[in-house]
Amino acid sequence: MKQKIIVTGGCGYIGSHTVVELIENNYEVVIFDDLSNSSSETIDRIEKITGIKPTFVEIDLKDELATNKAFKIHNDAKSVINFAAHKAVGESVQKPLMYYKNNLYSLINVLSAIEEQNIDGFIFSSSATVYGTPNSLPITEKNETQRPFSPYGNTKKMAEEILDDLIKSNKNLAAISLRYFNPIGAHESGLIGELPTGVPNNLMPYITQTAVGIREKLMVYGNDYPTKDGTPIRDYIHVVDLAKAHVLAVDRIVKKEQEEAFEIFNLGTGNGYSVLDVINSFEKVTNSKLNYEITGRRPGDVPQLFAAIDLAKEKLGWVAGKTLDEMISSSWSWEQKYRATHKS
Ligand code: UFG
Repeated sequence: MKQKIIVTGGCGYIGSHTVVELIENNYEVVIFDDLSNSSSETIDRIEKITGIKPTFVEIDLKDELATNKAFKIHNDAKSVINFAAHKAVGESVQKPLMYYKNNLYSLINVLSAIEEQNIDGFIFSSSATVYGTPNSLPITEKNETQRPFSPYGNTKKMAEEILDDLIKSNKNLAAISLRYFNPIGAHESGLIGELPTGVPNNLMPYITQTAVGIREKLMVYGNDYPTKDGTPIRDYIHVVDLAKAHVLAVDRIVKKEQEEAFEIFNLGTGNGYSVLDVINSFEKVTNSKLNYEITGRRPGDVPQLFAAIDLAKEKLGWVAGKTLDEMISSSWSWEQKYRATHKS
């Protein structure tokens, strides 16, 4: 019999790719999503890719009663992966309470419900933002966390602290927090990918939307950082590699292979690329010129972030396999395919 996994935020960018990988690894998936930043069309697309339609529950996880009810119905789940959250850094600076409310109320409701229903596995979607401005590179999981620049980032740090306290109080519960570096790319089918609402904050969707003609020009935020070409360095990771790491984390929880009740893993490639590296790779892969201009720094950006990846390799048996060119060409295929049928 297939083991059931609940995926909150399963219609979103990383969530939908993870649902595909879970289904392809023989798990039964139930998606909980409020569709606030995603579309139910994604479920049909997941079915197109995998041949299986995951169960979908439209639910606002800020609603405690509704959350309890939904988890009661699916209390045979072996584990929960919690993606549901708002994620726009700039918006969180403008509307901090909206971020604390949405990301933390929903987390607390989900954790309360899984305790109540004796579901004993939890995987949290965290971020390298919890390292703040790192004192040393590459960043290992032992690097101290710092208060992140944005309320969004702070919800990730606070969520990990809530989880840590809960795990100490509940001996049955096991949790894994996965700290993502910079996810980009899309599924090779071109059927699912990143779809930001409004003007993108992140580099990759801004590049592809500029190239497809929705944005006029990419602004490169600063070329006076202490890096090889002056633009900031990040560890870009293919979303499908990231999704595969979630399946390995679920396996680890379900097979009770954890060494500690709360484990934390970085998910990156270990390679740092500058903004200009990404633009150059895009121009090479697409054989075109990107319209861009260097402008001033964006507040809150750190010069360099890249991951130490040894722990995920050793404990999860996971290594990211895809190159920067592959990440970029898949993002581009997705953008083009999506825009061919959707005009905005
Ligand atoms: N950048 C530009 N122009 C743009 C957008 C981005 O030059 O229009 C640059 C940024 O200055 C930065 C790099 O591209 O140097 C990457 O920026 P992103 O916004 O794509 O990613 P960040 O590293 O700022 O943020 C990501 C995630 C956050 C997470 C953070 C953790 O999107 O969710 O990593 O460090 F909090």
